[in-house]
Amino acid sequence: MHVGRSTGLAIAGLITAGTVGAVAYALTRNEDELDPSPVPEPLPAPPTTAPSMPTPTPTRPSTTTPEPPPTTTVPAPTPPSTVPSPTVVEPPPPSPTVPPAPVDVPSDPPARTFEYAVQGGDTLSSIARRFDTTVATLVQLNDIADPDRIRVGQRLRVPGRAPATPAPTTPAPTTPAPSTPAPTTPSSGSQPAVPAGGTISRVPGARGKVALTFDDGPNGAYTDAILATLDRRGVDATFFVVGTQAARNGASLVRMRDAGHAIANHSWSHPQLTSLDDGGVRREFTDTSDAIERATGSRPDIFRPPYGARNDRVDRIAAELGMRDVLWDVDTVDWSRPGTAAIVDTAVGDARDGSVILLHDGGGDRQQTVDALERIITGLEGRGFELVTVPELVAAG
Ligand code: NI
Repeated sequence: MHVGRSTGLAIAGLITAGTVGAVAYALTRNEDELDPSPVPEPLPAPPTTAPSMPTPTPTRPSTTTPEPPPTTTVPAPTPPSTVPSPTVVEPPPPSPTVPPAPVDVPSDPPARTFEYAVQGGDTLSSIARRFDTTVATLVQLNDIADPDRIRVGQRLRVPGRAPATPAPTTPAPTTPAPSTPAPTTPSSGSQPAVPAGGTISRVPGARGKVALTFDDGPNGAYTDAILATLDRRGVDATFFVVGTQAARNGASLVRMRDAGHAIANHSWSHPQLTSLDDGGVRREFTDTSDAIERATGSRPDIFRPPYGARNDRVDRIAAELGMRDVLWDVDTVDWSRPGTAAIVDTAVGDARDGSVILLHDGGGDRQQTVDALERIITGLEGRGFELVTVPELVAAG
């Protein structure tokens, strides 16, 4: 009997370890970021609009190639020598008016999963957002062949604990709070300051508005092309820049600022911040904000953790530096180059009031994203959405 019990415990231990491993693995190859394919770019995407794909069956990120360490575009972390020591800390902005931000549950590797029945209107992105996980994790946990094809009633395994009540989509502020612009540190350029508070994935109160966000740049011609399209269409966006890129491309940051876009912090060397010690996290943030300030004259008050890998500790350090965590609720998975049509479909089709849409201008060949942008803007505006920056989205919520 004793033998039987300990065997059972050992098996349970294995299962738990396996689950954690799978989730940790999923995190590392998550949506965001640095182009996962270490191989030389096979063929540049056709410069023209991708041929309409019969069925947008986004090539799933290959589960056999975990995301490699940052490749060519982001050089190895080079701790800048001129950066002030981590002891230079901005006073944490005491915020008497913390707005009712969407609550975010710590996303450390979950020790368990629960079952969720897909409801009408759900997308994998919205489910991932609701339960603070990622599309990639859900795809892996449920062995989903096509992330665009989930059906109502389908039962999905979701990491974490089941919510006490069937969660409404996103905790929406019920009382229309009088918009009290919280006085904080000066924000970048003409962007409204983002008040301190919890993680932002979507701002449901921002009716009729969505935000396009671009990660991992600035990145040469891709960023230039994106800026040109945004200019032409009179649309403002938010750029989560990587410090190593920002330090070398100050002119791009100036162009972003002058065009009215928001510039935000996406770490210095694009590591998984949750795996760094406090000093390392602080340095990643500070060095990047320093580079942004050198180029534009102001420091960002929002950041996005690479791979979406955040926890309370990372958020606390960011808050001490006057920054708030911004994730996303619409994941185009554009980094995996699923085809221009698939990127457009996800960005336009999954958007809701206050959505934050994840795209990339850096980390690899972003031609598909460049090609998709015009149609994304047309599609979203066709649905009646106004495209704003993240700080503007937060201010409107
Ligand atoms: Ni990134």
